[in-house]
Amino acid sequence: MLIVRNVAQLQSEISKVKDNGQTIGFVPTMGALHAGHIGLVERSVAENDYNVVSIFVNPTQFNNASDLEKYPRNLEADALLLEKAGCDLIFAPSIDDMYSESEQNNRFEFDFEGLDTVMEGKFRPGHFNGVVQIVSKLFTLVQPHKSYFGEKDFQQLAIIHLMTQKLGFDIEIIDCPIVREASGLAMSSRNERLTVAQRELAASISSVLFESIKLTNNMLPAELTSWVENKIAQIEGLKLEYFEIVDAKTLQTANNWNSATVGCIAVFCGEVRLIDNIRYN
Ligand code: PAF
Repeated sequence: MLIVRNVAQLQSEISKVKDNGQTIGFVPTMGALHAGHIGLVERSVAENDYNVVSIFVNPTQFNNASDLEKYPRNLEADALLLEKAGCDLIFAPSIDDMYSESEQNNRFEFDFEGLDTVMEGKFRPGHFNGVVQIVSKLFTLVQPHKSYFGEKDFQQLAIIHLMTQKLGFDIEIIDCPIVREASGLAMSSRNERLTVAQRELAASISSVLFESIKLTNNMLPAELTSWVENKIAQIEGLKLEYFEIVDAKTLQTANNWNSATVGCIAVFCGEVRLIDNIRYN
């Protein structure tokens, strides 16, 4: 497995792979890898000849300096996991190698067609501009046939599909189910920042979501939304940022259960912001 730290070396490796006629699978990450990421890599390895994982804590998608600073980083441990999973190349560039000064300081413009005005987009202004900026850059450099994303970041995935289509990338985006700990807690690099007690508390986020599935026969989305909000409010140590039941395609608030709907939640457990989601139909 190669660890490549700059764009020039990446481009030279990718052109060799292309010359050999091999298919490329790609998993973009910000490192601090867990079983959820490794599941994406294993799927990529099963479906492609050559597999690339990027590890880059992308500063332009953070709208909170302390969140960026505290984001866990551990390239050595990540590399061990990736080698075992069958990854061929880790791309771990520096910020200056990825971005010019102007790119670092100016918001990347993109027409999200409304997908960015709700949920994460509402609470983290500019976040998705940074995501699209980095993923489009990585797609251009890695030139994968398939790229793998987790459904935990449901809104991000919807935006990646839109971006791929709008920018004309000939890349198949593969949606991969959420991987959960035994407690039900959705796997996330941020879980590393939770204390043992907080980790237990955070597991109740998914318990509430699972319980809510049983109520869709008796409640409309608006009523179920209030039910989830009240449940989370009763748990000391958790602070709800939002819970919204949305149409799975448009991400706009669902008024009934007629279309595919997803409940998306963001909760603070202490200082750590966690997201999760559940499909209702
Ligand atoms: O989901 C993530 O880890 C990041 O948003 C991504 C897709 C790697 C872009 O930085």
